Amino acid sequence: MIASLLLTAAALTPVTSIARPVEIKFSHVVAENTPKGLMAEKFKELVEERMPGKVKVSVYPNSQLFNDNKVLEAMLLGDVQMAAPSLSKFQSFTKKLQVFDLPFLFKDIDAVDRFQQSETGQELLGSLKKRGLVGLGYLHNGMKQLSSNEKIVTPDQIAGKKFRIMTSDVLQAQFEQVDAIPLKKPFSEVFTLLQTRAIDGQENTWSNTYSKKFYEVQPYITASNHGVLDYMVVTSAEFWMTLPDDLRTEIKRAMDDAIAYGNAISKKKADEDRQLIAESGVTEIIDLTDAQRQAWVAAMKPVWKKFERQVGKDVIQAAEASNE
Ligand code: SIN
Repeated sequence: MIASLLLTAAALTPVTSIARPVEIKFSHVVAENTPKGLMAEKFKELVEERMPGKVKVSVYPNSQLFNDNKVLEAMLLGDVQMAAPSLSKFQSFTKKLQVFDLPFLFKDIDAVDRFQQSETGQELLGSLKKRGLVGLGYLHNGMKQLSSNEKIVTPDQIAGKKFRIMTSDVLQAQFEQVDAIPLKKPFSEVFTLLQTRAIDGQENTWSNTYSKKFYEVQPYITASNHGVLDYMVVTSAEFWMTLPDDLRTEIKRAMDDAIAYGNAISKKKADEDRQLIAESGVTEIIDLTDAQRQAWVAAMKPVWKKFERQVGKDVIQAAEASNE
């Protein structure tokens, strides 16, 4: 009897008074078994373990919800709450992050990490605020390699070849610098473009090249380590600032822990995925000698000067200093 009275009272409670969990849709374009995919799942796990019933996270991988060129607009409209686009995909929001695309600027991912944690790196993390986005942290994927239909060892061998790039003017200039033909295309189209030979090659990390099977349709990979592909985890200022203070603090703590996890596995993943590609026997991996690499540096480095004004000389110098 008492139970049925309680049930009736509950049924009459206005819908507005039911506390619903905060919903976070996390959209990304890569496969689950990558640093970003695993980080997003870790974030979901931590949030739901630490804030049960209060926050619900849904992760949408493989461009299921949005591709990276649309996700930031969708975030500002409130259709998605979190994403981690590549640093190359923010150029319509700020020119400063273009520093990460300059070829041969960072000697390895540890240098990238030092720069991201430096004062300048942390300032760049806040550089999207004016455009309504909050940078929650940097996440590593790794250094980029060149995959191609033909063996490429020297910069002149790339001339006239079509390469897919992310939507970045620096990456466009990088390929034009060596007389290649860059094409800005979404990540979700790369495999088909390669398979149909609409393009000759692409640049990407070991992890993306393995998980999206690009290597299966690319007989050669030049291990050039010529640039970095890292991410910024972002949310909209509107969503972030309307969260209750205690939840915002806890969600940020979960994100920091998830990013630390993603960063810790990124290097191991790069090594493992390179190894798996090598073992496939489908793709030949070409390691460059120091002299061969130096020829690429000389060919591509003039790009820095072209973007010095937009990026800032001080920012480039701070990035260079992280190599020491
Ligand atoms: C990503 O790693 O998020 C995608 C990179 C790309 O577009 O090549």
